Amino acid sequence: MTAVLEIAGLQKTYRTRKGVRRALDGFDMVVEAGQVHGFLGPNGSGKTTTLRTLLGLIKPNGGRMTLLGREVPAALPEVAGQVGAIVESPQFFGNFSARDTLSLLADAGGVERHRVDEVLELVGLRDRAKDRVRTYSLGMKQRLAVASALLKNPRLLILDEPANGLDPGGIREMRTLMRNLAESGMTVVLSSHILGEIQLICDSVTIIAAGRRVAAGTVAEVLAQHTSTAVRVRLDAATDVPTAAEVLTAAGAQVRVEADHLLVSGVERSSLITRALADRELYVSELTPVTADLESVFLELTGTAPVAGQHRQVDDTALTPAGETAAREITVGEFSVGQTQGGWGQ
Ligand SMILES: Nc1ncnc2c1ncn2[C@@H]1O[C@H](COP(=O)(O)OP(=O)(O)O)[C@@H](O)[C@H]1O
Ligand SMILES: [Mg+2]
Repeated sequence: MTAVLEIAGLQKTYRTRKGVRRALDGFDMVVEAGQVHGFLGPNGSGKTTTLRTLLGLIKPNGGRMTLLGREVPAALPEVAGQVGAIVESPQFFGNFSARDTLSLLADAGGVERHRVDEVLELVGLRDRAKDRVRTYSLGMKQRLAVASALLKNPRLLILDEPANGLDPGGIREMRTLMRNLAESGMTVVLSSHILGEIQLICDSVTIIAAGRRVAAGTVAEVLAQHTSTAVRVRLDAATDVPTAAEVLTAAGAQVRVEADHLLVSGVERSSLITRALADRELYVSELTPVTADLESVFLELTGTAPVAGQHRQVDDTALTPAGETAAREITVGEFSVGQTQGGWGQ
């Protein structure tokens, strides 16, 4: 397989009034050709920063990136024609129809007009193509945005939070569209802060938390790497639970005591549990393997799972006070202030 997108050790720090914010802290990501790749992380974890950096909209402080096998930003002019991206929600002119909008963009980008009808068909806007954009639902505007990114028939399509603001029906339609595009051979990268929105259609995922990759691979691989299968143990007599916990802990297992059962992990075979307990005349009425789902892995890896008695604060990890020189690897003076708009098909 060939990687169409590769990021290694990406660094990005923003300077804010409160200090220096490390948005990306040695971030890595690889996307293979022909996949739908989910780029997942909570709000503020660095997804938009990564995508903007990749597209040459902001300057990194360190790291390497390639698109379609070419180093970027240096080779952006050569690859830009094969990459479609929507990173900011594009604003469309409300008085124009979808067809007017796309025709204008096609002309500006040197794309043949017949492609306009093709992309309208692809995103499912054919029947509303002559209506003014201001009459469109949010879902339809998102489709128009995707259509604009598809005009040049890109090999790689990058969409930042395409499901944002959509209702469940809209999200389902967006998923079907992405799946169809992938089946036509396009590589699709989708970011989301809500796992469930895209988990179902992704061949592979990268999970980011606080500017670092915390997991990557196929959904199955990520699950396998990050879940230790636990076993739920219920006892014949509920009053035996505390003693059973002691016995199993002494036998080297990790034991969590729940209201009326135990969650036991770190044992090679479940039969070891039953034997250790039976030796002490404690009898098991239920022994069930509990496998975590991707949602709980995601919550655990990104630190967004609720902690009893704690209110989670947004962004409480990445900020270094201004003037603090001890901060590692921060190269002050290299921050890019101005932003250049690349030719990314919007
Ligand atoms: N222009 C900016 N100036 C200062 N801080 C920023 C700027 N853009 C993003 N950040 C900060 O960088 C971090 C990552 O943000 P972002 O890439 O937008 O995350 P995500 O897209 O995953 O929600 C956050 O802490 C955010 O507050
Ligand atoms: Mg974002």
